[in-house]
Amino acid sequence: MERGLFITFEGADGCGKTTQLELLAQYLKDYEVLKTREPGAKGLGEKIREILLNYDAQVSDRAESFLFLADRAQHIDMVVNPAVQAGKIVLCDRHTDSTVAYQGYGRGIDLDRIRKLNDIAVNGRKPDLTLLFDIDVETSMARVGNHKDRMESAGINFFNKVRQGYLEIAKNEPQRVKIIDASKSIEEIHKNVVILVEELLQTAHL
Ligand code: TMP
Repeated sequence: MERGLFITFEGADGCGKTTQLELLAQYLKDYEVLKTREPGAKGLGEKIREILLNYDAQVSDRAESFLFLADRAQHIDMVVNPAVQAGKIVLCDRHTDSTVAYQGYGRGIDLDRIRKLNDIAVNGRKPDLTLLFDIDVETSMARVGNHKDRMESAGINFFNKVRQGYLEIAKNEPQRVKIIDASKSIEEIHKNVVILVEELLQTAHL
């Protein structure tokens, strides 16, 4: 019997989603909340994250995809599912839509393949709500600054494709994926997040 909630935070690097995840966790302080992320939850995830973001030689696009997917399978089995089953609200920084947007739309890997591999990695788990923080690429790249990791160094063209990919995902799944204008102030964005999460809480039985 499922009891908790699974909420994912998505958007291009520099969109401000991590800050919003922290603010939402504080807002939900009366609930049992688990903050987590992909890639890089505790344990194996941290090691995979290190390779994905800091490996300084070339990584093939397919190998990159499998590393993100391996991290996801481990994360779902060892972290997300046990927490949701225990009644927690899981706030997850990035999930399946990142692979569709970055490896699918960004790197150009066949979208159907990516979706099928995502299905294998999540083994039936679906987010109850996905918050997509949308912002123009120039602004998000300026926020990232000069110290870019391996993924962030992919260039403006790549990030334009990632953004379009995310918007396409939201168009196809409007029930699950809610677009949030991430060009607003931190406080305004937080208010929008709270409205959407409160709507979800009304229908959930926590
Ligand atoms: P972060 O900086 O938001 O933690 O994300 C790590 C980087 O990994 C970010 O550039 C997005 C990228 N990423 C993918 O390309 N595919 C994925 O499936 C995930 C989860 C992240």
